Amino acid sequence: MLELRNVDAAIGIIPILRNLTFRVDAAETVALIGRNGAGKTTLLRSLMGFTNVTGEILFEDRPIHDMHPSKRPGLGIGYAPEDRRLFSAFTVEENILLPAQSARLDAAETARRLDRAYAILPELREMAGRPAGNVSGGQGKMVALARALMLGTKLLMLDEPFQGLAPALARRYADALRALRDADRSVTLIITESNPSLLRGFAGRTLVIERGEISEGSLEPERANA
Ligand SMILES: Nc1ncnc2c1ncn2[C@@H]1O[C@H](COP(=O)(O)OP(=O)(O)O)[C@@H](O)[C@H]1O
Ligand SMILES: [Mg+2]
Repeated sequence: MLELRNVDAAIGIIPILRNLTFRVDAAETVALIGRNGAGKTTLLRSLMGFTNVTGEILFEDRPIHDMHPSKRPGLGIGYAPEDRRLFSAFTVEENILLPAQSARLDAAETARRLDRAYAILPELREMAGRPAGNVSGGQGKMVALARALMLGTKLLMLDEPFQGLAPALARRYADALRALRDADRSVTLIITESNPSLLRGFAGRTLVIERGEISEGSLEPERANA
């Protein structure tokens, strides 16, 4: 459903990603693992169109590397950046609804997708009217997930979602992702982490990124000690 062919990406004139060639099939959950500065965020941002890219990016067999960034979410791509970027003066629900508004979804479709997000994260319904500035950091991650779900009907890209989450909330977050996969068997997930143990037993496949280069990896070796 997603294919990169010889993709290089630069921020300004600084080359960051080098010769990335890989594909992700529909319904896969892929862990993108790499230490800080390896290029995880730059890769997700490149897929959203926020860097200078050469090479080819295909989404459902259609080239998107020249598509304007504002058009890409409309393909069914949801993106939760590593900094949550919630608008603190807006309510939780208003934050969740923002992408639907910018994508100009009609009221019925917006309501349907909001129900989908609440079905996966029911605890957010209870805090829907609270200012987003008043929720905890962990709850904010759930709000950011719900917001990404509004447009991520096909592909969801989550940038270090488990980073800084207390263990109970990390389990809750993982459960929500499992609920999503159970509810929608075709949804594709790309999840970055610097700590591979956070995704062990959850992702079906691992890509390792190191200094802007990618290779097929494994979450398994450290399991010997588990
Ligand atoms: N705005 C920027 N300007 C210049 N270099 C950047 C910028 N953002 C990131 N970089 C560089 O790009 C590389 C990859 O960063 P990033 O994609 O954020 O890595 P990760 O998300 O894996 O921690 C790093 O060397 C970082 O210093
Ligand atoms: Mg990052």
